[in-house]
Amino acid sequence: MTRRPGAQPDAGGPALRSAGARPIFLVGFMGAGKSTVGQALGNLLGWPFEDLDNRVEAREGRAIERIFAESGEPEFRRAEREALAELLAEADGSSRVVALGGGAFVQAENAALISQSGALVVFLDGTADELYERCRQGQPERPLRRSLEHFRQLYAARRPHYLKAALHVETGGKDIETVAAEVASKLGLR
Ligand code: S3P
Repeated sequence: MTRRPGAQPDAGGPALRSAGARPIFLVGFMGAGKSTVGQALGNLLGWPFEDLDNRVEAREGRAIERIFAESGEPEFRRAEREALAELLAEADGSSRVVALGGGAFVQAENAALISQSGALVVFLDGTADELYERCRQGQPERPLRRSLEHFRQLYAARRPHYLKAALHVETGGKDIETVAAEVASKLGLR
């Protein structure tokens, strides 16, 4: 996905801001555009945006890559779960857009917490091969992006979890602003 040249998403007006006082969580595999679309969606709606991975890094004082390298995935998942619980407590049902890391919604405990919070969950989708390519081009380095074969297998194992989201949006061949506008429109927020 690319950013439309010169695109400046228009901010939502007051009516829009009060339209749906519940958080929107963007889920999907690595490279799906959860952070970039989330930022654009936040701008479009005039809602705050947060990336859960950034909260994990701030709480732990280490980059995700380092948490994986020094402490392993189980420790990352613990940190992720705690960061999510903290975020949900702070959000307390208020309007905001949250991008989750690719593995967060796959953890049953996290999915249950999100569902109990009443948040809207949106699955940003794409083919495994396209997502692999997007990750190759962009930042950050992803500890779980190994071979294409492994990437495809992990994607296939996780996809049924993402499909539990209330809304499913295809991202292939679309720019970031188009996907953000599609999410807002399908949620009746625009
Ligand atoms: C992960 C995805 C990453 C990050 C961590 C683990 C995963 O986030 O949370 O490297 O398990 O798929 P992105 O989906 O934003 O790359």
